[in-house]
Amino acid sequence: MRTPFIAGNWKMNMTAESGKKLIEELKPLVKDANCKVALCVPAILIPAMTEAAKGSNIEIGAENVHWAEKGAYTGEISCTMLKEYGVKYAIIGHSERRQYFGETDEGVNKRTLAALAGGITPIVCVGETLEERESGVTEKVLDRQLEVGLKGIKDITNVVIAYEPVWAIGTGKTATDEQAQETIAYIRKKIGEIFCPKCAEKVIIQYGGSMNAANCKGLMAQPDIDGGLIGGASLKLDFATIVNYDK
Ligand code: PGA
Repeated sequence: MRTPFIAGNWKMNMTAESGKKLIEELKPLVKDANCKVALCVPAILIPAMTEAAKGSNIEIGAENVHWAEKGAYTGEISCTMLKEYGVKYAIIGHSERRQYFGETDEGVNKRTLAALAGGITPIVCVGETLEERESGVTEKVLDRQLEVGLKGIKDITNVVIAYEPVWAIGTGKTATDEQAQETIAYIRKKIGEIFCPKCAEKVIIQYGGSMNAANCKGLMAQPDIDGGLIGGASLKLDFATIVNYDK
């Protein structure tokens, strides 16, 4: 009953030229996908990538969105600006934003509410660091990120959650199928407590962190894992293999 959703996160990679080339090559390879497909790209590439993806099943997303509609927020981009280019999704609260740019759960909440109000589906990232996992506070960290980050949301089924253990991002160290399943099942249970159990059953929860062409099948076979947020592997044709995980 949940449509799987595989999204790429290009981070600060690609140019208009290399991005366009990759999308052209991906188009025929992903056209028969049974899941939703998106690529979240650097803001400056959004117009060119939207153009490149036209007429295909690849939707273009942003890597962040600001909470205000406009104003004195140097370097930030609003929902209105993204919508102008047909952007459907925005990653919010990625651990790199939290780690290197000081983004907080409160800010994640403001950005998420603004995205929803502006008609963009937020992909809200949560996840623990290695230190937090090893000291046994994973659930506590996730509780805080979910309680604060998702506060005040009226319909949680309009939000996509990405569980990204920080220790698995860009490290080549994937969570095992069991670890990812167990933690994502916990997140679903927690969402059920904050909102309602019925709604929680409808929420798409992705796994992210070194997901690749080799490990995607095992991860996607887990009952609570509804998709992936793909960093490194979304910069190459491997992304198509992940999208076609069920074939
Ligand atoms: P990775 O990144 O696939 O390169 O580990 C995932 C992410 O940060 O979204």
